[in-house]
Amino acid sequence: MPFINAIVGSKELASASAAKTETRPSWDTIANIEDLREIAKRRMPRTFFEYVEAGSYDELTLRANREALDALELRQRVMVDVSARIQETTIVGEPVSLPVALAPAGLTGAVYPNGEIHAARAAQSSGVPFCLSTMSVCSIEDVAAATGKPFWFQLYLMKDRGFSQSLIERAHAAQCPTLILTMDLHVEGQRTADVHNGLGIPPRMTLSNVMDIAMHPRWAFGMLGSKEYTFGNLKDAIKHSGNLGILSEWVKQQFDPSFDRHDVEWVRKLWPGKLIIKGILDPKDAEIAVAAGADAVLVSNHGGRQLDGAPSTVEAFPAVRDAVGDRAEILFDSGIRSGLDVLKALALGAQACLIGRAYLYGLGAGGEAGVSKALSLISEELDAGMALTGVTDVKTVQRDVIVH
Ligand SMILES: Cc1cc2nc3c(=O)[nH]c(=O)nc-3n(C[C@H](O)[C@H](O)[C@H](O)COP(=O)(O)O)c2cc1C
Repeated sequence: MPFINAIVGSKELASASAAKTETRPSWDTIANIEDLREIAKRRMPRTFFEYVEAGSYDELTLRANREALDALELRQRVMVDVSARIQETTIVGEPVSLPVALAPAGLTGAVYPNGEIHAARAAQSSGVPFCLSTMSVCSIEDVAAATGKPFWFQLYLMKDRGFSQSLIERAHAAQCPTLILTMDLHVEGQRTADVHNGLGIPPRMTLSNVMDIAMHPRWAFGMLGSKEYTFGNLKDAIKHSGNLGILSEWVKQQFDPSFDRHDVEWVRKLWPGKLIIKGILDPKDAEIAVAAGADAVLVSNHGGRQLDGAPSTVEAFPAVRDAVGDRAEILFDSGIRSGLDVLKALALGAQACLIGRAYLYGLGAGGEAGVSKALSLISEELDAGMALTGVTDVKTVQRDVIVH
């Protein structure tokens, strides 16, 4: 077949395929989360894009999360009437339009100006919960004032228990229905990219950072009109809080390695709403969380940003599920990039998933509209996945949806 050889070897085909691989997604042609990631990469200063991307140390766990999800095979079923498909469910009793919530992420306001408010509004209009991080730029009160619907709050317990208590009280005053208590940050895992980029504690302003920001004027001008660039929830904790270096140093000293089950019990007593314990990978820890009164356990390795070498959440999930049984809900995060991933997590036994980078890419690509786009992509992919695996309701996904 010489003509095929001629075509395959032709310069035209070579340049056509080069052009194809160089095709860059635009807003109108976004097909998946990876496209939002590409756009975010162009729009954000490299330092902050890499802050979102990074895993800890050699990024073994970061990669394991994706590899394990990719390795799960879905069982195609075709002899089923799937004309009605339901994604509505509940997470810790709260009705949601799809089994997804936006995970807490620090410095979301550096991904996009006033990023926490954009993400909270997108979550609200999409009918899913948004969780504000302790380490956010916009404070609890800022987000409450800018959004209509109550959001969730995530707590890092500080050594200063009085200040921790005040954060809990502020979240309650803002009518947050749910508190996520993050347990996997007794010390901070090193994110190598952040060290290289000077985004450690305290942050360093290098010539390369300045150039990086100067090359992204849209982002830079947006930031000028947004909230003061600091940790909004923490700035009243110390004097000189306007100095991000001093505040960051305080934060670093405040992460508490003594944090254990007694502190979870203390938080449980203080917090009247729903309590989710985040960062559980081990069945023994899950037992303790449930015994301390958790309404849900979130199987998470912090998106591969803490213990490098920890198992993927796909690997860790079954033992936690078996230990918890039906005494509490079990949620899943770390590695979710599509609705098909959500379907796999539901098949493992998760009530719902939290997404981190998948929405942060949307935020970096286009603020509120980008987060809404991320959520609608996930919902559409989940819908197609349900239809082709014979699933009509997310509440009844069976384990045999996964082949092995
Ligand atoms: C940029 C970034 C910042 C994060 N900050 C926090 C945080 O402040 N508190 C927390 O509990 N988890 C934090 N996480 C972890 C997320 O809540 C979530 O566990 C993780 O992103 C899930 O993995 P995924 O990004 O692959 O979806 C952060 C994750 C990212 C990517």
